[in-house]
Parts: sequence; structure tokens; C-alpha cells
Amino acid sequence: MKLFVVGVSGQLAHELQRACWPSGLTVQYAERPTLDLLRPDEAAAVVAAARPQLVVNAAAYTAVDAAESDRETAFAVNCDAPAALAAMCRTTGAALIHISTDYVFDGAKPAPYVEDDPVAPLSVYGASKAAGEAAVRQTLGRHVILRTSWLYSPVGHNFVKTMLRLGAERDRLRVVDDQHGSPTAAADLAAAITVICGGIAAGREDGFGTFHCCCDGATTWYGFAQAIFDDARRRGFETPAAVEPIPSEAYPTPAARPRNSRLDCRKIASVWGFTAPRWQDSLAACLDRMASTAPQPAAAEAALP
Ligand SMILES: NC(=O)c1ccc[n+]([C@@H]2O[C@H](COP(=O)([O-])OP(=O)(O)OC[C@H]3O[C@@H](n4cnc5c(N)ncnc54)[C@H](OP(=O)(O)O)[C@@H]3O)[C@@H](O)[C@H]2O)c1
Repeated sequence: MKLFVVGVSGQLAHELQRACWPSGLTVQYAERPTLDLLRPDEAAAVVAAARPQLVVNAAAYTAVDAAESDRETAFAVNCDAPAALAAMCRTTGAALIHISTDYVFDGAKPAPYVEDDPVAPLSVYGASKAAGEAAVRQTLGRHVILRTSWLYSPVGHNFVKTMLRLGAERDRLRVVDDQHGSPTAAADLAAAITVICGGIAAGREDGFGTFHCCCDGATTWYGFAQAIFDDARRRGFETPAAVEPIPSEAYPTPAARPRNSRLDCRKIASVWGFTAPRWQDSLAACLDRMASTAPQPAAAEAALP
């Protein structure tokens, strides 16, 4: 069975390339310039030409703040492109795994969100992702939409890498402490995708729909930063002397973020038998990988008596 992954260089696509796929699946990847989601119909035709039975859309417009002033691009990539991929899959009989986000919710719910809760995005990015979900749902029955949150990996742009960079540059950092969510390693989301693709490839037709897929447990960005620095310090990274909790109002951004991003992940556990590790354990695994590839001291320095 042939699987086509849209995306190569992003966090999730990178982890899909490291993932352990079930035997019998051949996996092909493509990204720009071969496949440009800003030209949805052409992109879908590139995928169709490979004749896959499964398609994973691991690409997206993910610049949350930039999207506020670039609505057209965000909607083209996050809504029109998945709609075109879904239409192509309907024509060819392929199944589509599409990724979405906690930012489709407004964060007002005092408990973790379940899959059927109404969406109410606060940002252009969230609205474009919600529209993309709706388009996939309307177009194709054989879809799996995975909503995830606070994604990070050793590559790409993410909170872990930003904290480590700023922590090495500054003595003190101020981090928002009133937004709650589940940091999720892209490696864990990739593992969920391999389970789902393996199931579909083996003939399962009862697991389509929308699912929440995050690491277990929740914290705030401040709590996440503290855990990053505690773990990073033990691995020899430079860390700041102090990290201060602040409210969202003290760190204004172009896009509003939900205060509550927690997603209830019981449905994917019951339907697909997939449970991601505790977020703290996945963070430790990510930092281990980053420490093992961190630059070593310069030769002259290392040679000092
Ligand atoms: N990052 C998060 O915190 C987070 C949280 C919740 C959900 N998600 C969702 O999780 C999924 C994976 O996110 P990620 O963090 O892995 O994303 P990412 O690291 O930002 O990578 C996005 C990928 O999409 C590609 N892309 C963007 N515009 C494109 C276009 N016009 N044509 C073709 N490719 C294009 C990018 O390619 P270039 O390098 O060429 O730009 C990049 O490879 C996305 O659906 C995202 O919405 C992410």
C-alpha cells in the first residue's frame, strides 16, 4: 500500500520520516517547489499522480501571528488545499489524515475540550484551520482529523527551541502563565499517525472521524518553560537565572490565544488504542536528542589543560 505525505521539512513531516511504519507501506514525501499548497488543484494533482491509497497532510501555514495580516495565504494553505486534497481522495478512493489544532477553540470552556465541542477560533490561523477541518469533513468520508496542541521537536520553530535560545542569551525570562495546554512532541503525533495508517492499511473502516491527539497531562507556557530549563540544565545547556510568570496581557501578540487549550484524548485511545506519553517524558526524550546533536566545545577550548 502506498502512502503520500504532504510536507518534508516541517516538524511533523520530519518525525514521520523517522517513524516506524508498518511493513507493507511505502511512504513518499513531497513539498515545495514540487508541491505548492498555494496552488491547491495542482498540488492535489501531484499527489494523485503518485496513486496513493493513503494521504497524510503534514503541511500547513503555521505562523499564527503573521496570519493575522495574511488571511488569504492562511486560508489558501489551511482550507483550500486540504479541501482539494480531500476532493482528490474522494475521486481516487484514498483516505486522508489531516492535522488540526487546539486553536480552533476559544478556550472559554473550564474543562478539556472533546471532539464535538463547537469551534470558536480567536485568530485567523484558528479560523483557517477550522475551515480546513470543515472542508475535509464535508468532502470526504474516509478522513481522520487529528487535533493536536503545542507541537515541538528538535527541528523547526517551536517553544522548546525558542526557550533554549533565549535562555542562553538572557539572564531573566518572562513567560505567560495563564494559558493552559498539553505540550506535544511531534514524534508522538507521528507515532499516532503510523498506528492509524497501519490500521487503515489493514482494512479498518471504523476509525474515521475527528480525534484529539496530545501528550498526556497539561501545564502553562510558564510551567513548560520551567520544565524545559530544569531538564536542559541537567543536560549541560545554558539556562537563565530566573523565569518569571506573567499574564497574557503582559505579552501582547497580534493573534489572541485560547486560555484553555486542553484537549480530551480519550476518543483516540478507545477507537485507535493510542495513548501518547506524559508530556514531561516526551520533553525529556526530545532534549536527549537535542543534547546528543548539540555542538561540542571548540577544539582549542576542549584541548585546554
Ligand atoms: N506547531 C504547533 O504548535 C501546532 C499546534 C497544533 C497543531 N499544529 C498543526 O500540526 C501540523 C504540523 O505542524 P508543524 O508544526 O509540523 O508545522 P511546521 O513545522 O510549521 O511545518 C509546516 C510545513 O508546511 C509547509 N508549507 C507551508 N506552506 C506551504 C505551501 N504553500 N506549500 C507546501 N508546503 C507548505 C512548510 O514548508 P516550508 O518550509 O517550505 O514553508 C513546512 O514544511 C499543522 O497542520 C499544524 O497546523 C501545529
